[in-house]
Amino acid sequence: MNARAEPIHVTPAFDVERVRADFPILQIEVEGKPLVYLDNAASSQMPQPVIDRLVRYQSTEHANIHRAVHTLSERATAAYEEARAKLQRFINAPDVREVIFTSGTTEAINLVMHGYGRKFIQAGDEIILTTLEHHSNIVPWQMLAEETGAIIRVLPINDAGELCLDQFEPLFNDRTKLVGVSHVSNALGSINPVKQMIALAHKRGVPVLVDGAQAAPHLPVDVQDLDCDFYAFSGHKLCGPTGIGVLYGKAALLEKMQPFKGGGDMILSVSFEKTVYNAIPYKFEAGTPPIAAAIGLGAAVDYLSAIGMDVIAAHEHALLQYATSQFSDLPGLRLIGTAQDKAAVLSFTLDGIHPHDVGTLLNQDGIAVRTGHHCAQPVMARFKVPATTRASFAFYNTMAEVDALVAGIRSVQKVFA
Ligand SMILES: Cc1ncc(COP(=O)(O)O)c(C=O)c1O
Repeated sequence: MNARAEPIHVTPAFDVERVRADFPILQIEVEGKPLVYLDNAASSQMPQPVIDRLVRYQSTEHANIHRAVHTLSERATAAYEEARAKLQRFINAPDVREVIFTSGTTEAINLVMHGYGRKFIQAGDEIILTTLEHHSNIVPWQMLAEETGAIIRVLPINDAGELCLDQFEPLFNDRTKLVGVSHVSNALGSINPVKQMIALAHKRGVPVLVDGAQAAPHLPVDVQDLDCDFYAFSGHKLCGPTGIGVLYGKAALLEKMQPFKGGGDMILSVSFEKTVYNAIPYKFEAGTPPIAAAIGLGAAVDYLSAIGMDVIAAHEHALLQYATSQFSDLPGLRLIGTAQDKAAVLSFTLDGIHPHDVGTLLNQDGIAVRTGHHCAQPVMARFKVPATTRASFAFYNTMAEVDALVAGIRSVQKVFA
């Protein structure tokens, strides 16, 4: 233990070892060492109840949905729609029709770009983004800008990796049509003041899309409290399956938007003269959706809600505090991203050692971290580094795993000394 460590406040009700027992993958060894999984910002792991739910679906309920009167199809449809209702409750959406299943955050943002952007954004119109965005919340808007002649404005960050909020309002003008902002930065962990930003944007009548990929797994999210117009997140970062995600959108906006993809399930009627689109959310769910993945995600949010998102946030904050204090004892370590309000992500560089070497050597100790630009190259450019090593925590991580990471970093430094 670090003598200088701040007191760590672990919620007494939270038994991390009991939770870990739910995750089969956390019991395995990697490179002959117990797995220390610290790549949760990329994808988190799946607990047994979610795995069991997927097996039950595949074993006893699988059929295509919305299309048949036979029992299995009715079961699958009920389970799929029940999952939608679970997601509605998870983010406190007012109306279940406002929850659209997508393949993930990236597709959800692309849906807004095609459905809202291509209809309502024209040459000379402006979109405000931030330096902290993941490429998924940059590239679709650049594609739209190329197509339409729209302009992208960027809210900068300070040296701590916090948005320069004082520069937000001056970015608006009569041509501003949309704000896109991440709730939590995947590269740095900064928690952005999205509620305040949404209120400012709404004063100007501008809708806000929040990229919640890194927030939904770590903080209680209430879309009514935020008053966001769109909120996007991914299942695989939320202890659920890959290939599933959610776009929340206010019904009034979704109804005005054009469909993103054409095909089955998004229509009411089709003739060669005219196609009539289905109501929301189906208007945006063309083709057979990832039924099993949606049901698995429903089970995942049940699991997280049973623990409590506030309990999860408190445990992860304790991990962040402890890891940050331990890191301060490591010479040659530069922590990138020191926002006041931060999720449990530690991005860092080590003097004279390339992040890929750090990641490779840590892996030999069974420690999984991510190295690279984290799909956030503008953040790397801002801090003048090509890449970082990123340790990102989940509620099933432990203080002992922080110690393992710190010991691993010391060994890497010894190898390169
Ligand atoms: C902040 C953020 N936005 C978007 C994405 C893209 O998510 P997905 O690949 O699940 O679509 C990620 C994934 O790392 C992310 O961290």
